[in-house]
Amino acid sequence: MAAARETIFTLEATPVKFGPGSSADAGWELKRLDVSRVLLVTDAGVAALGHPERIKRLIEAEGIEVVVFDRSRVEPTLESLEEAVAAARAAGVDGFVSVGGGSAIDTAKVANLVLTHPAPLMDYVNAPVGGGRKPPAPLKPHLAIPTTSGTGSEATTVAVLDIPELKVKSGISHRYLRCTQAIVDPELTRTLPAEITSSAGLDVVCHAAESYISRPFDTRPRPASPDDRPPYQGSNPVADVWSAKALEYGGSYLRRAVADPDDVEARGWMMLGATMAGVGFGSAGVHIPHACAYPIAGLKHVYQPPGYPADHPFVPHGHSVIVTAPAAFRFTYDAAPERHHHVAELLHGGPLDDPGPDTLPQVMRQLMRDVGAPSGIAELGYTEGDVDVLVEGALKQQRLLAVAPRQPTADDLRRIVTASLRNW
Ligand SMILES: [Fe+2]
Repeated sequence: MAAARETIFTLEATPVKFGPGSSADAGWELKRLDVSRVLLVTDAGVAALGHPERIKRLIEAEGIEVVVFDRSRVEPTLESLEEAVAAARAAGVDGFVSVGGGSAIDTAKVANLVLTHPAPLMDYVNAPVGGGRKPPAPLKPHLAIPTTSGTGSEATTVAVLDIPELKVKSGISHRYLRCTQAIVDPELTRTLPAEITSSAGLDVVCHAAESYISRPFDTRPRPASPDDRPPYQGSNPVADVWSAKALEYGGSYLRRAVADPDDVEARGWMMLGATMAGVGFGSAGVHIPHACAYPIAGLKHVYQPPGYPADHPFVPHGHSVIVTAPAAFRFTYDAAPERHHHVAELLHGGPLDDPGPDTLPQVMRQLMRDVGAPSGIAELGYTEGDVDVLVEGALKQQRLLAVAPRQPTADDLRRIVTASLRNW
């Protein structure tokens, strides 16, 4: 007898306050959440822009004590996360506020998790890399204030970390990691260099495209208990709405946001798109490009990205994801041609003549070129000789690959990675 299929999907979304100037409500929101002493998590680059200091004063004006931790790392490691946990413990906080990109938000999520439910960090990391332990109860309040329009981390239940010793990136995912409240203020992205806007925006586009093209939720086997229902459920009618809107914004506004840092309108829509894509992929899930991105970012640390602080070489997340997207979507095409056409049309901004298997890859490549993305994995420091080990790394991300609408074998991934060495 065939195994019973899933019949249920869930929708959970972070409460979001959106609009220019909304970060002025930070203190009011934390007071509403009944905290008295918070850890403000940020990184040195964002701190230099002055937003964290301004937000700190706003929170203090509401009678809430603020301890600043400004050492979150652009790609969090076990070590940098443990440092944040120690800071939270030493400060004796009862809440968190994160101000920064996905890394600062993820660092606060993890510090909150381990402060609330003490355990070795690796116990919580997704299996098979870590122990896959689940937090037993909700965490302390966490207000997230993103300053880049990319990761959508303020809207998701995931924290991503780099484990250089194992040459792998992995994550911690559980619904309790979700922030209590997000404030999304387009004014905060105004100072970002074009390269960061490009990488972050392409990440948004991939979140939305991968989610829209993920395996439908009702093709999964029914879980034995609600506890076993994965955070990444596969595409479903509600996630589709969020993903489609984010694709439309990405197609309409990313080029403008990259071209002109003062185009607050375009940046605002990209920022809203990032959060909306976060809701979409937080429900449906991402798959092949994100699975490949983990080893691309984790294996070699030789690429010094233009526009980012020159303190350590790394591949910006969005660029590590987008480089395999054209080949990945060519591979998944047969599983759902109409969905691929629809994604291409949303990004293009209108109907496309006679769409086929190569339409979405072509639309993606054009967008990449227009916003100055790396041409492929080769530009990030890899050669043909690295393909096997990149494939091995992608295969470790089974939690993601399971969400793909067509399951890739090692040979399929080898073809995708090879084709992605140079997209043009
Ligand atoms: Fe991403």
